[in-house]
Amino acid sequence: MDESGEIQGERVRLRHMVRADIDQMARWPRFWEADLQWANLDLTFPGERDAYFERGRSNGTRRRFVVVDERGEIIGTVGLRNLDLQRGEATLGIIIRADRVGKGYGTDAIQTIICYAFDVLDLERVILDVAESNRRARRVYDKLGFVVSGSHLGVGAITYVDMVLDRSVYDQNRRLPSSSATEPECQVPSPRGRGSG
Ligand SMILES: CC(C)(COP(=O)(O)OP(=O)(O)OC[C@H]1O[C@@H](n2cnc3c(N)ncnc32)[C@H](O)[C@@H]1OP(=O)(O)O)[C@@H](O)C(=O)NCCC(=O)NCCS
Repeated sequence: MDESGEIQGERVRLRHMVRADIDQMARWPRFWEADLQWANLDLTFPGERDAYFERGRSNGTRRRFVVVDERGEIIGTVGLRNLDLQRGEATLGIIIRADRVGKGYGTDAIQTIICYAFDVLDLERVILDVAESNRRARRVYDKLGFVVSGSHLGVGAITYVDMVLDRSVYDQNRRLPSSSATEPECQVPSPRGRGSG
C-alpha cells in the first residue's frame, strides 16, 4: 500500500481535505449538547474558513481527511495529529456532522483511519482523549478495541479519559471472523483509481 490516494471503508471513504470542503462544512448543523460545543466549527467568515483549512491540512505531523458517504456527501472529518513516525504514534480526532451521528458512519470512519495508521503509516499505537461524559464516542472506541490508559483534567475541569489502541490489539482483532465489528476494511487505491471527489 502506498500513502497517497483515498481510503475506502465499508460505507465511507476518506480523502484528503481540500479548501472547497470547508465551505460545505460551514453549512453543517450545530450540536446542541453542552459538552459538544467544541465540535461546532467557527466557519462563518471566509477568513475563518481559510484559517481552519491552513491549520488542519495534512503535513508532516498531521493527516486530515474528510469523511464521504455513499452518496458523495461530506459528513465528517477525521484525522491523526501529533504524528511521530519514529515513536510510531499519533492522536486520533473525529467529528461526524450532527445530523448524521448514530448511523454507523463514525465507527466505519475510525476503523478506516485505524487501518491507515497501522497498515500504511506502520504506527505502533493510536492514542486519543475523550470527555468522560461523551458516552457515544466512548462506546465506539471501546467497540474498536481502544483501552483506557489514564485520565486527566482539561479546560473547564472536564475529565478526559485517555485511550490507546496498540498494534497487537489491532492485529488480534483483524484475525477475528469477518462478521466481527472490529475487523478493519482497509483498501487504499492508487490516486488515479478514483475521481477527486
Ligand atoms: C463520536 C462520533 C465520531 C461517533 O460516530 P457515530 O457515527 O455517531 O457513531 P456510530 O453510529 O458508528 O456508533 C455509535 C455507537 O454508540 C452507541 N451510542 C449512541 N448513543 C449512546 C449513548 N448516549 N451512550 C452509550 N452508547 C451510545 C450506539 O448505539 C452505537 O453503538 P452500537 O454500534 O454498539 O449500537 C460522533 O458521534 C461524533 O462526531 N460526535 C461529536 C464529536 C465527538 O464526540 N467526537 C469524538 C471526540 S473524542
